[in-house]
Amino acid sequence: MTKVLRKLRCILLFGIAFFLLPTNLQGQNSLYLDDTKFVDDRIEDALSRMTLEEKIAMCHAQSKFSTPGCPRLGIPEIWMSDGPHGVRMEFMWDSWSHADWTNDSCTVYPALTCLAATFNPILSFRYGNALGEEARYRKKDIILGPGVNIYRTPLNGRNFEYLGEDPFLASKMVVPYIQGVQKNGVAACMKHFALNNQDKWRDSINVEASDRALNEIYLPAFKAGVTEGKVWAVMGSYNRFRGQYCSHNNLLVNKILKGDWKFDGVFITDWGSAHNTIEAARNGLDIEMGSWTNGLSWGLSSAYNNYYLAQPFLRKIKSGELSESLLNEKVRRILRLNFRTNMDRNRPYGKKLTPEHKAIALKVAEEGIVLLKNEKQFFPIEKGRYNKIAVIGENAVKKLTQGGGSSELKPQEEISPLQGMIDKYGKDHILFSLGYASGEPNYSNELPSLYNADSLMTAAVETARNADVVILFGGLNKNFQQDCEGDDRKNMNLPFGQDELIVKLLEVNKNLGVVIISGNAVSMPWISKVNGLMQSWYLGSQGGIAAANIISGKVNPSGKLPFSIPKKLEDNGANSFGPIAYPGDGHNEVYKEDILVGYRWFDTKKIKPLFPFGYGLSYTTFVYGKARTDKRTYRPDETVKISFNLTNSGKMDGSEAVQLYVTQKNPTLLRPVKELKGFSKVALKAGETKIVEINLKVSDMAFYNDKISAWTLEQDDYEISIASSSRNIKSANTIKVVL
Ligand code: GLC
Repeated sequence: MTKVLRKLRCILLFGIAFFLLPTNLQGQNSLYLDDTKFVDDRIEDALSRMTLEEKIAMCHAQSKFSTPGCPRLGIPEIWMSDGPHGVRMEFMWDSWSHADWTNDSCTVYPALTCLAATFNPILSFRYGNALGEEARYRKKDIILGPGVNIYRTPLNGRNFEYLGEDPFLASKMVVPYIQGVQKNGVAACMKHFALNNQDKWRDSINVEASDRALNEIYLPAFKAGVTEGKVWAVMGSYNRFRGQYCSHNNLLVNKILKGDWKFDGVFITDWGSAHNTIEAARNGLDIEMGSWTNGLSWGLSSAYNNYYLAQPFLRKIKSGELSESLLNEKVRRILRLNFRTNMDRNRPYGKKLTPEHKAIALKVAEEGIVLLKNEKQFFPIEKGRYNKIAVIGENAVKKLTQGGGSSELKPQEEISPLQGMIDKYGKDHILFSLGYASGEPNYSNELPSLYNADSLMTAAVETARNADVVILFGGLNKNFQQDCEGDDRKNMNLPFGQDELIVKLLEVNKNLGVVIISGNAVSMPWISKVNGLMQSWYLGSQGGIAAANIISGKVNPSGKLPFSIPKKLEDNGANSFGPIAYPGDGHNEVYKEDILVGYRWFDTKKIKPLFPFGYGLSYTTFVYGKARTDKRTYRPDETVKISFNLTNSGKMDGSEAVQLYVTQKNPTLLRPVKELKGFSKVALKAGETKIVEINLKVSDMAFYNDKISAWTLEQDDYEISIASSSRNIKSANTIKVVL
């Protein structure tokens, strides 16, 4: 055969081989996301080759943040990292000590409560994608976030990691976040499933809540993350629900998560949340992490072989007490995670600390800040308006990316509010005084400040006296029993003497504004005396720039409250029934407010909050036209199309998060006065008018009927309200639903 023919034969053979190859080698879309048959075959093949011991090893940790894979078969380790706001620093293999690497700093994105306050799902996708890129670059296969537990009480130490009090808002914001993360071949791990709405006694408290509260309030965001976001991992919570630990809870995991919702990913523990081999084996736990640790600061070293799903599980399989099929089901899910992440040859390579990452961190921070009060045109403080601006408060300089628990981060940069104000106005125009001081972040007790409070206050008052305007950067911080994992706040008050400081400052300078930085509502006894007030958040790396851009008017604030701010703690549903409803009696806790969480409580009980859910001002004004629906009567499978004109009637470009609430007129069971069932963030130039359209699925107006254990839509009249907050209805239409 001539040389030419031989060459032609090679080309032909290569061509045939190329097209027979699995598509992933052809550089096309990731095979594992498109061809489940192929993946399932690969999973069964791998499973058939693994020994019993190798399969057991896949189901539990080998180190603080990894599982071993199967080295003999080339199945990679699975590496996990916190957390919801950025990729956490590296840890020692087997201790809660940081590894002190020099290349593990990250972009710190704003806390998820800030993301929720943007009411902007597009930003949520960009946030998730940026986080996923950094996690991928840092070779993480699972990022341990987002957290979607509902904000039930302003005392919960971890509310800053979650998406607020409303299940619809949390559902709409969590889906794009998950999609953004997983686009990078990194698994998002939605947490903490479920009813983990406080951190006090988190590792043992038994929560009792009704089926209605479970289905209407506490599960929707998790359900959306699974059924719409297609999340690849879910983390069980520490607490118990109806007497069984959530990390191996038959109702939550087998029936709801893996049964009703058809979750095909891996269900992992929180660190130290497994307690029983037989329950863990039978009730859907796939990966056990962190047993015998508090998930924060201490743990039993090298305990991995004694984990509940380690030797004890192996022994029970060998004795026949537990079936090997239970193990195989776990390993199938873990292998599917491998194929979706570190065995997908086509997943992106990731990147970190890029200008785009900084830009999204800044954008979310700017869009999340909420303007709550603005009298006498206190804000914006344009450059040149004042000669001397006093910046007072520890939160103007304190590093707030540290502490707080597992969401702690090592920022490559963290621009403080003080730095942002100096960069914006020039150092000659900024006076600074600490005003108050707290101790260092830790997880066991409240360390006292090293500074003398009286001298700090005296200095701050002098600074205020000599200034034209005063901005106090106060709020909470990431210290123990503030916005911090492992326990809750003791009360709703501002800590470290801030209330007294504000009063003293006002005595010498009435031209004072307050910027609260927190993940929770705080009491504001001085509210009537200040002209300007903002609810700000843990804004991350670019926080100081965002704060200065909003304060100076470079950016128009557009955030809306993702939770209600009560006048006093007892006005809040969970805190109005005594200790059994919160924090519980140390063993049990009963969610007595039931489905009336947040504004649902305030509206139905006719209690006026200090600031309502969905509230937020702008430097411009918006005029809402009369809303119309596309018709008057609807069937259950239809969609209501609501439209209305929205005009920016002010002189400054701005954005408005318009909200849609639904009220059933004659429900057969108690329903909240109104429930959020739609929203849209609308950008408008000064003077511009847009037609806003919001679609409402009629089926979304159903309620969970615990008498028949099913979602129920009743034939009735429903009021569809368009609003700028849960307490400011701009127009309403009544529609009829006919079955
Ligand atoms: C912690 C937290 C959880 C975190 C995990 C790993 O205890 O509850 O959110 O992802 O342990 O640090």
